[in-house]
Amino acid sequence: DYIKELLGLTNLEDLLKARLNIEKVVVIPGDSDENPLVKDEIGKGVATALLKLLKDGDVIAVTGGSTVAAIADQLPKTTKDVTVVPSRGALGEQVEIQANTIAAALANKLGGRYKLLHAPDNLSQNALSSIIADPKIASVLEAIKGSNILIHGIGEAGVLAQRRSTDPEILDKLEKSNAVAEAFGYYFDAKGNIVHQVESIGLKLTDLQHISKVIAVAGGKSKAKAIEAVAINHRQHILVTDEGAAMEILN
Ligand code: BG6
Repeated sequence: DYIKELLGLTNLEDLLKARLNIEKVVVIPGDSDENPLVKDEIGKGVATALLKLLKDGDVIAVTGGSTVAAIADQLPKTTKDVTVVPSRGALGEQVEIQANTIAAALANKLGGRYKLLHAPDNLSQNALSSIIADPKIASVLEAIKGSNILIHGIGEAGVLAQRRSTDPEILDKLEKSNAVAEAFGYYFDAKGNIVHQVESIGLKLTDLQHISKVIAVAGGKSKAKAIEAVAINHRQHILVTDEGAAMEILN
């Protein structure tokens, strides 16, 4: 903390807390756009915050993404009586950074259990309805809906849409509606309005109000607009970010 004080990061954290209306903000030195090691440090920052707040019986829902994946990498092995679940279906992510993969890795580090959701994204409404009716999937969905901690990444709309090989007409819709941000399958404009959502099952935005700790993790100057937009849309209790994003938001 002394080092943070010296680097002026404590001040940045206070300014961001006020600006984004978030209870706790952690700013990691550096910019993950420029230095990939900063993402690992973001992961370490979340791991530390998480270990402080975890209680027996907690159910942690996680999204996919390289930033959330860094948390599991950075966590020391412990023994906690917790369950980890993916927040939603696959959302077209590479398997290494899919929510299911991260949930299993996190549970292993925490010494807890995991429940996985095997549901591809972008299915028709009909297909989704029959998947939901399956008893095994229904029980995982129930665990997801009962989660009391959510850890989610934030992405730039264009970057995420490309990464997910989104259909051209959706790309067009995103562009026309000035989408700047993405979080767990929802796309937002700069004012935090939802402009599109990927069809999937699991947590919905409206479920977030029942989750007692929503932890957002995203860094890099390029994500500044996205972080702001998502912070307007829904309440986060903790944001772990980096200096690159923080400076850009405050400018
Ligand atoms: C995806 C999540 O897996 O990761 C998105 O579904 C999130 O909601 C994204 O925006 C963030 O990815 P990264 O790699 O930039 O941390």
